[in-house]
Amino acid sequence: METINIIHCAVEEVGLWFEGQDASDHVFIVCDRNVRPLVDRTGIKAKGIYEIDADEGSKDFVTVTDICRWLMELGADRSCIVVGIGGGVTTDITGFSASVYKRGVRFAFVPTTLLSQVDAAIGGKNGVNLDSFKNMIGVIRQPDAVFICPEPLDTLPYTQIVSGAAELLKTFLIDNSNNLYEKAVETLTRVREAGGKLDGHSENLGYLISGAAAVKAGIAGRDPFEKGERRLLNLGHTFGHAIEKESGEVIPHGNAVSMGIILAARLSEKLGLAEKGLAGRLEADFKACGMPTECPFPVERLTGAMRKDKKAEGELVHFVLPLTIGRVETRSISPDDVTRLLQE
Ligand SMILES: NC(=O)c1ccc[n+]([C@@H]2O[C@H](COP(=O)([O-])OP(=O)(O)OC[C@H]3O[C@@H](n4cnc5c(N)ncnc54)[C@H](O)[C@@H]3O)[C@@H](O)[C@H]2O)c1
Repeated sequence: METINIIHCAVEEVGLWFEGQDASDHVFIVCDRNVRPLVDRTGIKAKGIYEIDADEGSKDFVTVTDICRWLMELGADRSCIVVGIGGGVTTDITGFSASVYKRGVRFAFVPTTLLSQVDAAIGGKNGVNLDSFKNMIGVIRQPDAVFICPEPLDTLPYTQIVSGAAELLKTFLIDNSNNLYEKAVETLTRVREAGGKLDGHSENLGYLISGAAAVKAGIAGRDPFEKGERRLLNLGHTFGHAIEKESGEVIPHGNAVSMGIILAARLSEKLGLAEKGLAGRLEADFKACGMPTECPFPVERLTGAMRKDKKAEGELVHFVLPLTIGRVETRSISPDDVTRLLQE
């Protein structure tokens, strides 16, 4: 069991944690250029700040090498701590760079997107892309701390809220022990009705983020290397990855997961596993939350892509299927059966 240290605080309080830890010449910040003003608000006294362009094209070995060279030039030794401030691209790059620099130094994250607060920054998966293959190179290694602060979300575009919403709802579809699924649908619906503005909903959203982060940290802590329970977090991802691939990576990850969860629910109903009407309910909920539900590709294109996917072993593909709100199950199914069932 690994402990995952999540700290919920105001952004201005983040720096206090580092004062107790280290002298300023041991702290190095890697940040997304778009959130640079937040770095000053954290009050972290760092020896250097390295700004990156947070896009998939920069999430590669070249950026990792540049960061490691920068750390070396600034004299970062094995006692240093590297802080990643930004969305999932930044936390992935930072976590991976820190994990390989001098065979591994400490790192911490201040995630600044909804998706990274509930998912990417939690659980210790830190990877970068290789050519067109996403997250092909990486390590599993936990950050010393993840600071979840409400303030960064104020500047987040609504499209990014929608993208993170899929992972938020996914988490509660896996574990709804605190009935947060219903609260999340209610809050996200209000945000959509308010034209994507978080004003007045930040407190509710913060409560939901804490809940989702705790669920993910619990699962990832019990099964850090994805031998069993952690696989459940892939709900919507088998279809989702195929959708992203078929779109040439144009459809954002969260949107693909949203459509993927609906397809997984339909498949689950066809197999007689899900409670009757679950797919329809999720579709209505997701639409109310402003999330896309209809996949633009025919199912046979998705199953064709799955055959080539790394998760396929022999003829079978692994799916996480929702049974009801808060319960999921894994099944291995042949792509041909998936095509047939979803075309019926
Ligand atoms: N390690 C994991 O377990 C894991 C899990 C899920 C996703 N990921 C990875 O996360 C990445 C996606 O991350 P993401 O969706 O968080 O987005 P991102 O890091 O790609 O950021 C999305 C956009 O939002 C901007 N941005 C970030 N914070 C902002 C803020 N507070 N205000 C305004 N703009 C802001 C960024 O500059 C960027 O343009 C993918 O590379 C994916 O592979 C990793």
